[in-house]
Amino acid sequence: MLPELSNPSVCMRDPQRVQEILESMQKAGSNTLQVISDFDMTLTRFAYNGKRCPTCHNILDNSKLISNDCKEKLKNLLDTYYPIEIDSTRSVDEKLPLMVEWWTRAHDLLVEQRIKKDLLATAVRESEAMLRDGYQLFFDHLYEHSIPLLIFSAGIGDILEEVIRQAGVFHPNVKVFSNYMDFDESGVLKAFKGELIHIYNKREGALLNTGHFQELRTRPNVLLLGDSLGDLTMADGVQDIENILKIGFLNDKVEERKQSYMDSYDIVLLKDETLEVSNAIMLYLT
Ligand code: C5P
Ligand code: MG
Repeated sequence: MLPELSNPSVCMRDPQRVQEILESMQKAGSNTLQVISDFDMTLTRFAYNGKRCPTCHNILDNSKLISNDCKEKLKNLLDTYYPIEIDSTRSVDEKLPLMVEWWTRAHDLLVEQRIKKDLLATAVRESEAMLRDGYQLFFDHLYEHSIPLLIFSAGIGDILEEVIRQAGVFHPNVKVFSNYMDFDESGVLKAFKGELIHIYNKREGALLNTGHFQELRTRPNVLLLGDSLGDLTMADGVQDIENILKIGFLNDKVEERKQSYMDSYDIVLLKDETLEVSNAIMLYLT
């Protein structure tokens, strides 16, 4: 057993099963491995020194690119819908239309702000976005071992890319599925491209991108990282999966949600702001 799996933040429903999956994946070799990860609150920190860290949306919401009046409206949306997102007493069916409503209303407000493409990098630079401790090793090692990393995010693709670019880890093995901004010819945001990705339709998002998974068909072993139960479907486009190991970051409402996370993720990390466990697993598999 990897020593990191004894960290106090680690919970496992079935440690024996985790061990078996790890052994089987290790035996298959790193050339059969692909990594699929959520972004917000999975690759980025949830909190730092007791203060919440921003999601892709929050990076924009809190930036100079948004008027004070609009900031207030976005904040009201966050205060209304985030508690619903993490409410363990409501079913996915109940939450889904409300999540669509949140994303849609927020995107409409962002579009009204006539955001300029060339100011996004500054907004990210001035933000408090933080990748989790250990991110450098995570990204660099996957790149050095030619292991594809799919970042599958219901956040904003343009912002997410800028965060990893500024951190120096947007390597060529990284592919992103996310909500991308559409700019007019003068570089002003006019809409979001394609089908909306929210936290509960990653399965549909995956199935729209069969080409990507087809290219990776020689890699039937998947390491999946997420922080929401919606992230569990991110690998649904992978054909003929051999093994999948699911690591879930449980950041908020830990006691209420622990059981449901334990039931669906193989490894649950309780309020763990680091990539230490994921890195140990990645190093073991490569
Ligand atoms: O990258 P990921 O799929 O985790 O991005 C989704 C996250 O973005 C959600 O967990 C949600 O809390 C957050 N969000 C936000 N503002 C919005 C919509 C979603 O902060 N307007
Ligand atoms: Mg997330």
